[in-house]
Amino acid sequence: MSQIDIRTTIREKYGEMARAGAPGKAGRTSCCGPSTNGCCAPAADPAALASAIGYDAGELARILPDGANLGLSCGNPGAIAALKPGETVLDLGSGAGFDCFLCGPKVGAAGRVIGVDMTPDMLAKARANIAGYSARTGLANVEFRMGEIEHLPVADASVDVVISNCVINLSPDKPQVWREIARVLKPGGRVAVSDMVLLQPLPEAVRGMVEAYVGCIAGASLLEDLRTMLREAGLVQASLTPKPEYVSTLSAGDDPLYQRIRAGLPAGTAPGDYITSMDIAARKPGACCAPGCC
Ligand SMILES: C[S@@+](CC[C@H](N)C(=O)[O-])C[C@H]1O[C@@H](n2cnc3c(N)ncnc32)[C@H](O)[C@@H]1O
Repeated sequence: MSQIDIRTTIREKYGEMARAGAPGKAGRTSCCGPSTNGCCAPAADPAALASAIGYDAGELARILPDGANLGLSCGNPGAIAALKPGETVLDLGSGAGFDCFLCGPKVGAAGRVIGVDMTPDMLAKARANIAGYSARTGLANVEFRMGEIEHLPVADASVDVVISNCVINLSPDKPQVWREIARVLKPGGRVAVSDMVLLQPLPEAVRGMVEAYVGCIAGASLLEDLRTMLREAGLVQASLTPKPEYVSTLSAGDDPLYQRIRAGLPAGTAPGDYITSMDIAARKPGACCAPGCC
């Protein structure tokens, strides 16, 4: 697929997801059903998946407006970020606002959270969720901007922490995304990203499946390419930690996308041999003031 085709397909499929709402809700149809092109493996039970990948159920119940968790996440970037009151957080591919709303109380009234997404229906859903978030928390510190993560609608050196949850794999130009992250971070700013990463190249049968691309698998970077992109963007202190529980949870269940992927893999191998969710932490170098600082 060309870059334009990828963006169009991603917008279409995630637009469908936004309109359908969370699984289990009235009117929701699975976009991973056999007659569709898949999506980022939305969990049948988003709350159960969130618990499996490290979210605190009590925190979700207390803070999240109904419909903000669409079951599209593959990790918990807010937990990697170690946020402090007053910080500015930027969420790349914010979807219905899931991680933005969870980060809001951590940065408090003096901080702010900006979500960026390129899918109009997703953006509309996230914006509609702000009222429920404010009613639950008393905060008005989350906003959502329309935009592509390759061309962020955010000023240079204005963000303390960039987070993202299962999105960068979908970009047709990942080196550009990492350069944009470095551009918007303040000196010393942090990266706290969860994303899908390849441990070895996928077989052609899976690489060519459109639903595997939309489903956050076929577009994933190889681990060594990810390291190179971080370094070439000027980011330092990279720490890449595999989180196998996401793939093992979906592989063990009856997720239709993972069943199709499994059918395209060589006998005796499993999705987890090829792909994992990963916690990706790094920093933009700060002003150097002492020997050994970066
Ligand atoms: C798998 S969903 C994850 C949503 C959210 N991060 C979550 O965990 O619930 C991917 C989201 O990224 C958005 N997206 C994908 N590619 C994008 C791009 N190149 N620029 C901006 N948004 C993008 C989609 O519209 C969708 O909302």
